[in-house]
Amino acid sequence: MKLILLGPPGAGKGTQAKMLTDRFSIPQISTGDILRAAVKAGTEMGLQAKACMDAGALVPDAVVVGIVRDRLQEKDCQAGFILDGFPRTVPQAEALTATLAELGKNLDAVLSLEVDVEALVERLTGRRTCRDCGRGYHVKFDPPQQAGICDACAGELMQRDDDQEATIRKRLEVYREQTLPLAGYYQELGLLTRVDGMQEIGSVQQQLLAALQAA
Ligand code: AP5
Ligand code: MG
Ligand code: ZN
Repeated sequence: MKLILLGPPGAGKGTQAKMLTDRFSIPQISTGDILRAAVKAGTEMGLQAKACMDAGALVPDAVVVGIVRDRLQEKDCQAGFILDGFPRTVPQAEALTATLAELGKNLDAVLSLEVDVEALVERLTGRRTCRDCGRGYHVKFDPPQQAGICDACAGELMQRDDDQEATIRKRLEVYREQTLPLAGYYQELGLLTRVDGMQEIGSVQQQLLAALQAA
Protein backbone atom coordinates (compact mmCIF):
# COMPACT_ATOMS: atom_id res chain seq x y z
CA MET A 1 0.00 0.00 0.00
CA LYS A 2 1.60 3.26 -1.15
CA LEU A 3 -0.41 6.29 -0.34
CA ILE A 4 -0.43 10.01 0.28
CA LEU A 5 -2.59 11.68 2.92
CA LEU A 6 -3.38 15.19 1.74
CA GLY A 7 -5.06 17.83 3.82
CA PRO A 8 -4.61 21.15 5.59
CA PRO A 9 -2.84 21.63 8.93
CA GLY A 10 -5.00 19.98 11.59
CA ALA A 11 -7.00 17.82 9.15
CA GLY A 12 -5.95 14.67 11.01
CA LYS A 13 -3.20 13.40 8.70
CA GLY A 14 -0.93 12.35 11.56
CA THR A 15 -3.77 10.85 13.63
CA GLN A 16 -5.05 8.79 10.70
CA ALA A 17 -1.58 7.85 9.41
CA LYS A 18 -0.68 6.33 12.79
CA MET A 19 -3.84 4.20 12.73
CA LEU A 20 -3.10 3.02 9.15
CA THR A 21 0.50 2.26 10.13
CA ASP A 22 -0.69 -0.09 12.88
CA ARG A 23 -3.17 -1.77 10.57
CA PHE A 24 -0.95 -2.31 7.52
CA SER A 25 2.50 -2.41 9.18
CA ILE A 26 3.89 0.17 6.80
CA PRO A 27 5.76 3.30 7.90
CA GLN A 28 4.33 6.79 8.22
CA ILE A 29 6.63 9.28 6.53
CA SER A 30 5.83 12.69 8.04
CA THR A 31 8.14 15.41 6.77
CA GLY A 32 6.96 17.59 9.66
CA ASP A 33 8.05 14.94 12.21
CA ILE A 34 11.39 14.44 10.42
CA LEU A 35 12.04 18.20 10.40
CA ARG A 36 11.07 18.54 14.09
CA ALA A 37 13.50 15.71 14.92
CA ALA A 38 16.24 17.60 13.05
CA VAL A 39 15.39 20.78 15.00
CA LYS A 40 15.62 18.85 18.28
CA ALA A 41 18.94 17.29 17.26
CA GLY A 42 20.26 20.78 16.41
CA THR A 43 21.52 19.83 12.95
CA GLU A 44 22.26 22.57 10.43
CA MET A 45 19.25 21.52 8.38
CA GLY A 46 17.15 21.64 11.54
CA LEU A 47 18.28 25.17 12.35
CA GLN A 48 17.35 26.39 8.87
CA ALA A 49 14.03 24.57 8.92
CA LYS A 50 13.09 25.96 12.34
CA ALA A 51 12.98 29.54 11.08
CA CYS A 52 10.54 28.56 8.29
CA MET A 53 8.41 26.39 10.57
CA ASP A 54 8.10 28.99 13.34
CA ALA A 55 6.97 31.51 10.72
CA GLY A 56 4.34 29.08 9.40
CA ALA A 57 6.09 29.02 6.03
CA LEU A 58 7.26 26.03 4.01
CA VAL A 59 10.80 24.69 4.15
CA PRO A 60 12.46 24.88 0.70
CA ASP A 61 11.40 22.16 -1.76
CA ALA A 62 14.96 20.90 -2.29
CA VAL A 63 15.33 20.09 1.43
CA VAL A 64 12.15 18.04 1.80
CA VAL A 65 12.48 16.37 -1.61
CA GLY A 66 15.93 15.11 -0.58
CA ILE A 67 14.64 13.86 2.79
CA VAL A 68 11.82 11.89 1.19
CA ARG A 69 13.96 10.50 -1.62
CA ASP A 70 16.37 9.04 0.95
CA ARG A 71 13.60 7.80 3.22
CA LEU A 72 11.74 5.96 0.44
CA GLN A 73 14.85 3.90 -0.26
CA GLU A 74 15.00 2.49 3.24
CA LYS A 75 14.11 -1.15 3.62
CA ASP A 76 10.93 -0.68 5.64
CA CYS A 77 9.33 1.15 2.69
CA GLN A 78 9.45 -1.88 0.43
CA ALA A 79 5.97 -3.10 1.31
CA GLY A 80 4.53 0.39 1.21
CA PHE A 81 4.38 3.74 2.99
CA ILE A 82 2.07 6.54 4.04
CA LEU A 83 3.24 10.01 3.10
CA ASP A 84 1.92 12.60 5.60
CA GLY A 85 2.55 16.28 4.83
CA PHE A 86 4.48 15.60 1.64
CA PRO A 87 4.14 16.64 -1.13
CA ARG A 88 2.98 20.17 -0.36
CA THR A 89 3.78 22.05 -3.57
CA VAL A 90 3.41 21.12 -7.23
CA PRO A 91 7.22 20.96 -7.69
CA GLN A 92 7.39 18.52 -4.74
CA ALA A 93 4.68 16.38 -6.35
CA GLU A 94 6.56 16.38 -9.65
CA ALA A 95 9.79 15.40 -7.88
CA LEU A 96 7.94 12.58 -6.09
CA THR A 97 6.53 11.28 -9.38
CA ALA A 98 10.09 11.21 -10.80
CA THR A 99 11.54 9.50 -7.70
CA LEU A 100 8.85 6.81 -7.66
CA ALA A 101 9.39 6.16 -11.37
CA GLU A 102 13.13 5.74 -10.71
CA LEU A 103 12.40 3.30 -7.89
CA GLY A 104 9.82 1.43 -9.97
CA LYS A 105 7.00 2.16 -7.50
CA ASN A 106 3.43 3.34 -8.14
CA LEU A 107 1.08 5.18 -5.81
CA ASP A 108 -2.13 3.33 -5.00
CA ALA A 109 -4.10 6.30 -3.75
CA VAL A 110 -4.10 9.93 -2.69
CA LEU A 111 -6.65 10.51 0.05
CA SER A 112 -7.65 14.07 0.80
CA LEU A 113 -9.05 14.91 4.24
CA GLU A 114 -11.54 17.78 3.91
CA VAL A 115 -12.14 19.91 7.02
CA ASP A 116 -13.62 23.41 7.57
CA VAL A 117 -11.22 26.21 8.51
CA GLU A 118 -12.70 27.00 11.94
CA ALA A 119 -12.61 23.32 12.90
CA LEU A 120 -8.93 23.24 11.91
CA VAL A 121 -8.13 26.17 14.21
CA GLU A 122 -9.97 24.50 17.10
CA ARG A 123 -8.14 21.21 16.49
CA LEU A 124 -4.71 22.83 16.35
CA THR A 125 -5.11 25.13 19.35
CA GLY A 126 -6.25 22.10 21.42
CA ARG A 127 -3.64 19.65 20.17
CA ARG A 128 -1.16 18.22 22.67
CA THR A 129 1.74 15.84 21.98
CA CYS A 130 3.72 13.63 24.34
CA ARG A 131 7.25 14.94 24.77
CA ASP A 132 8.61 11.41 25.20
CA CYS A 133 6.72 9.05 22.85
CA GLY A 134 5.15 11.55 20.44
CA ARG A 135 1.59 10.30 20.88
CA GLY A 136 -0.99 12.92 19.92
CA TYR A 137 -4.04 14.10 21.88
CA HIS A 138 -6.69 16.82 21.80
CA VAL A 139 -7.86 18.50 25.00
CA LYS A 140 -11.51 18.15 23.90
CA PHE A 141 -11.73 15.57 21.11
CA ASP A 142 -9.14 13.02 22.28
CA PRO A 143 -8.20 13.86 25.88
CA PRO A 144 -5.72 11.89 27.98
CA GLN A 145 -7.06 10.23 31.13
CA GLN A 146 -5.16 12.72 33.28
CA ALA A 147 -4.73 16.28 31.98
CA GLY A 148 -1.21 16.99 30.72
CA ILE A 149 0.05 13.41 31.07
CA CYS A 150 0.47 10.76 28.36
CA ASP A 151 -1.69 7.62 28.79
CA ALA A 152 0.94 5.49 27.06
CA CYS A 153 4.15 6.49 28.85
CA ALA A 154 3.22 9.07 31.53
CA GLY A 155 5.34 11.62 29.65
CA GLU A 156 4.54 15.33 29.76
CA LEU A 157 2.16 16.68 27.10
CA MET A 158 3.30 19.77 25.22
CA GLN A 159 2.06 22.15 22.56
CA ARG A 160 3.83 22.49 19.23
CA ASP A 161 5.63 25.83 18.75
CA ASP A 162 3.67 26.49 15.53
CA ASP A 163 0.26 25.87 17.14
CA GLN A 164 -0.24 29.50 18.23
CA GLU A 165 -3.33 30.99 16.58
CA ALA A 166 -1.47 33.59 14.47
CA THR A 167 0.93 30.95 13.13
CA ILE A 168 -1.96 28.56 12.51
CA ARG A 169 -3.73 31.19 10.36
CA LYS A 170 -0.51 31.74 8.41
CA ARG A 171 -0.09 27.97 7.84
CA LEU A 172 -3.68 27.77 6.58
CA GLU A 173 -3.02 30.63 4.15
CA VAL A 174 0.17 28.92 2.89
CA TYR A 175 -1.83 25.72 2.49
CA ARG A 176 -4.49 27.47 0.39
CA GLU A 177 -1.92 29.09 -1.87
CA GLN A 178 0.68 26.37 -2.29
CA THR A 179 -0.80 22.98 -1.39
CA LEU A 180 -4.44 23.11 -2.51
CA PRO A 181 -3.45 22.93 -6.22
CA LEU A 182 -2.13 19.40 -5.58
CA ALA A 183 -5.69 18.04 -5.48
CA GLY A 184 -6.00 18.96 -9.16
CA TYR A 185 -2.60 17.40 -9.93
CA TYR A 186 -3.63 14.04 -8.44
CA GLN A 187 -7.18 14.22 -9.77
CA GLU A 188 -5.75 14.38 -13.28
CA LEU A 189 -3.67 11.30 -12.52
CA GLY A 190 -6.88 9.53 -11.44
CA LEU A 191 -5.57 8.94 -7.91
CA LEU A 192 -7.56 11.39 -5.76
CA THR A 193 -10.34 10.44 -3.35
CA ARG A 194 -11.88 13.07 -1.08
CA VAL A 195 -12.86 12.02 2.42
CA ASP A 196 -15.08 13.90 4.88
CA GLY A 197 -12.61 14.76 7.64
CA MET A 198 -15.26 16.50 9.79
CA GLN A 199 -16.47 13.20 11.27
CA GLU A 200 -15.05 11.75 14.47
CA ILE A 201 -11.63 10.07 14.33
CA GLY A 202 -12.97 6.49 14.09
CA SER A 203 -15.40 7.21 11.27
CA VAL A 204 -12.76 9.09 9.28
CA GLN A 205 -10.59 5.96 9.56
CA GLN A 206 -13.49 3.80 8.30
CA GLN A 207 -13.93 6.09 5.30
CA LEU A 208 -10.21 5.92 4.53
CA LEU A 209 -10.26 2.12 4.66
CA ALA A 210 -13.28 2.03 2.34
CA ALA A 211 -11.52 4.40 -0.08
CA LEU A 212 -8.40 2.20 -0.03
CA GLN A 213 -10.45 -0.89 -0.83
CA ALA A 214 -11.99 0.89 -3.77
CA ALA A 215 -8.63 2.20 -5.05
P1 AP5 B 1 3.44 19.28 9.61
O1 AP5 B 1 3.98 18.70 10.84
O2 AP5 B 1 3.21 18.41 8.43
O3 AP5 B 1 2.13 20.05 10.00
P2 AP5 B 1 0.77 20.34 9.21
O4 AP5 B 1 0.66 19.92 7.80
O5 AP5 B 1 0.55 21.76 9.48
O6 AP5 B 1 -0.23 19.36 9.84
P3 AP5 B 1 -0.42 19.06 11.32
O7 AP5 B 1 0.58 18.07 11.77
O8 AP5 B 1 -0.52 20.34 12.08
O9 AP5 B 1 -1.90 18.42 11.30
P4 AP5 B 1 -2.37 16.94 11.03
O10 AP5 B 1 -3.17 16.94 9.78
O11 AP5 B 1 -1.27 15.96 11.14
O12 AP5 B 1 -3.39 16.79 12.23
P5 AP5 B 1 -3.33 15.88 13.55
O13 AP5 B 1 -3.58 14.47 13.18
O14 AP5 B 1 -2.17 16.20 14.39
O15 AP5 B 1 4.38 20.46 9.11
C1 AP5 B 1 4.86 21.43 10.01
C2 AP5 B 1 5.77 22.41 9.30
O16 AP5 B 1 6.90 21.70 8.76
C3 AP5 B 1 5.17 23.12 8.09
O17 AP5 B 1 4.46 24.27 8.46
C4 AP5 B 1 6.43 23.44 7.26
O18 AP5 B 1 7.11 24.54 7.80
C5 AP5 B 1 7.29 22.20 7.48
N1 AP5 B 1 7.02 21.16 6.47
C6 AP5 B 1 6.53 19.91 6.70
N2 AP5 B 1 6.41 19.23 5.55
C7 AP5 B 1 6.83 20.07 4.56
C8 AP5 B 1 6.92 19.96 3.15
N3 AP5 B 1 6.54 18.83 2.50
N4 AP5 B 1 7.39 21.02 2.45
C9 AP5 B 1 7.80 22.14 3.08
N5 AP5 B 1 7.71 22.33 4.41
C10 AP5 B 1 7.23 21.29 5.15
O19 AP5 B 1 -4.67 16.41 14.29
C11 AP5 B 1 -4.72 17.72 14.85
C12 AP5 B 1 -5.50 17.69 16.17
O20 AP5 B 1 -6.86 17.40 15.90
C13 AP5 B 1 -5.02 16.64 17.17
O21 AP5 B 1 -5.11 17.18 18.45
C14 AP5 B 1 -6.01 15.48 16.98
O22 AP5 B 1 -6.21 14.77 18.18
C15 AP5 B 1 -7.27 16.21 16.57
N6 AP5 B 1 -8.08 15.46 15.61
C16 AP5 B 1 -7.64 14.68 14.57
N7 AP5 B 1 -8.68 14.17 13.89
C17 AP5 B 1 -9.80 14.64 14.49
C18 AP5 B 1 -11.20 14.46 14.22
N8 AP5 B 1 -11.63 13.69 13.23
N9 AP5 B 1 -12.07 15.09 15.03
C19 AP5 B 1 -11.64 15.87 16.06
N10 AP5 B 1 -10.33 16.08 16.36
C20 AP5 B 1 -9.43 15.46 15.57
MG1 MG C 1 0.83 16.08 11.48
ZN1 ZN D 1 3.96 9.25 25.71
